[in-house]
Amino acid sequence: MRQGDARDPVGEQKVQIFMGTYLLKESSNSHHFFILASYKGVFEKEVTNMDGFETLVSVGIWGLAALVGISLMMKITQRLQLSLAKHPSLGGHLRMAKRVAKWIPGYDYGPERWFDIDGAPASVAMQRRHALQNLGAQLQSRSPQTLAHTEATKPLVSDLQLISQYRVPFQFRSVLAQHIKLGSYWRESQGVWLTDMDGNQYIDVTGSYGVNLFGMDFYKSCIQEGADMASKLGPVLGSYHPCVLDNVQQLCAISGQDEVSFHMSGTEAVMQAVRLARYHSKKRKIVRFTGAYHGWWDDVQPGPGNPMPPSSDTLTLNEMHPNTLRVLRNRSDIACVLVNPLQAMHVNKAAPTDSTLVDGGRQVHYDKAAYKAWLAQLREVCTEKGIALILDEVFLGFRLAPGGAQAYFDVKADMVTYGKTLGGGLPVGVVCGKAHWMKRFTSERPGDICFARGTFNAHPYVMATMNVFLHRLQTTAVKSQYAEASAVWQSRQDRFNAALKAAQLPVHVAGMETVWSVLFEVPSRYNWMFQYYLREQGIALSWVGSGRMIFNFEFDDTAFELFTQRFIKAAQRMQADGWWWVPEHQNNRNIRRQVLKEMLRLRWA
Ligand SMILES: Cc1ncc(COP(=O)(O)O)c(C=O)c1O
Repeated sequence: MRQGDARDPVGEQKVQIFMGTYLLKESSNSHHFFILASYKGVFEKEVTNMDGFETLVSVGIWGLAALVGISLMMKITQRLQLSLAKHPSLGGHLRMAKRVAKWIPGYDYGPERWFDIDGAPASVAMQRRHALQNLGAQLQSRSPQTLAHTEATKPLVSDLQLISQYRVPFQFRSVLAQHIKLGSYWRESQGVWLTDMDGNQYIDVTGSYGVNLFGMDFYKSCIQEGADMASKLGPVLGSYHPCVLDNVQQLCAISGQDEVSFHMSGTEAVMQAVRLARYHSKKRKIVRFTGAYHGWWDDVQPGPGNPMPPSSDTLTLNEMHPNTLRVLRNRSDIACVLVNPLQAMHVNKAAPTDSTLVDGGRQVHYDKAAYKAWLAQLREVCTEKGIALILDEVFLGFRLAPGGAQAYFDVKADMVTYGKTLGGGLPVGVVCGKAHWMKRFTSERPGDICFARGTFNAHPYVMATMNVFLHRLQTTAVKSQYAEASAVWQSRQDRFNAALKAAQLPVHVAGMETVWSVLFEVPSRYNWMFQYYLREQGIALSWVGSGRMIFNFEFDDTAFELFTQRFIKAAQRMQADGWWWVPEHQNNRNIRRQVLKEMLRLRWA
């Protein structure tokens, strides 16, 4: 090769092109120095005068090294920031949580240890033994038909098996099941009452998973009117019942958004909102917060309960923490942030269920002003970065205010998901959002669409029932219920806690409007037993137990007073039966350590 060839502009261009391509391809590869060095060797053989070329190559190498170094540093910083934005609990580290969940050995206390696992003296253990037998006999003799029906159903419905099992910490399950059975059938509802198949009446704080905001009679009549309205058309699908226009206009007005899409469940609404966020942002990652539930779709329910490994596209971050804001601000691959405002009651924790109530350490605390300030900060960073802020109001929508959590916390989301109560008692999921997030196609690229359909979307009967529901929201009666709700439920909560204190009972409640949790002041191994005393006193809880009591607006002062009396009686009986006896120096930490030791011993026995 002649000397001049080394300076050949075409040759140089080739080198530059090669280096540019190489830089792109290999910038993230740690072997790049070696590969580049071998390419350099090849060039050296071909070029006779190497002075200028060598300078060029070494400048290139150093430049490349600097670039790779910077990119590596940026990656490390990003990774570090992400780690710092994770909640330190297992809920913030889902791969580890899955491993731990699989590692936990199955065992139970058996009849010998069941009654004195906390070291209770024989007299207390005996008292508890008798109490359990009596309680079981009471519940059983009261509801023979309901229980027989439930037991006949159980082997055929795995979901029922699961919710029957997962009501108490697993170590207590088998002995408990020998004594206590709960019915899972209701024959009737009226006012705040549920009636089982044997005619027993219970005060309903199950809340029907949050659907029941206005009382069951309200929903029954919405469904009836809706069915009448839709009956001429019948289940004609794929087009709309005339009421749909009114629904979407009302929903746009309520949510302050531009467009609406209809789905069959809250889970589907969330799937659609996330898909739209990804479509328009062209980014993959979604942010959810530790412990938050957004339905059972894989991408938003990573960790234990989902057989798939957590997706690297879902970032589970620490809610109400500045490190999370820093991640949102510094990354450029985030499509959306999902917020479930119910988490305001138990930030970064899963819903408080009795199945995890191993001690008295349940923590629920609601601070409206602090959560409002957090949402404002989130809003700011999402706007700054073009991230879609999705407020998942499937549970709380309409429960906090007619304008939902957006109005209640004074925040404007890019998309809002609704469900549950909005169907007027029928199944539904809804997304409301700004037009530019909701659009499902682009005219410039006709092949590039965001597909989402569903056979039963906008089902005429659901739409008609929703229409009745939305019109009811405009009535003076409902408007005045909303206007008074916060004050009414806060004063009930205060009175309720004062009554418990006056009765010297070691329980109190913390609540967010109509959603309350029972908190235990005693570090007892048996606090989960309380759900059965409440049942005995005629109070119906959902399978989550005392962690979530959901009231509805049908509760007037008389019904609430009755509820209070029954609750107090249940607590008195629980206390009298020795379940709140605790050894001296017992605390929640000791209990958790003891349980951990049991597991370790069994694992490595
Ligand atoms: C906040 C939230 N999002 C989504 C869902 C899922 O809704 P669905 O059960 O209708 O699929 C729920 C259900 O509880 C929820 O509470």
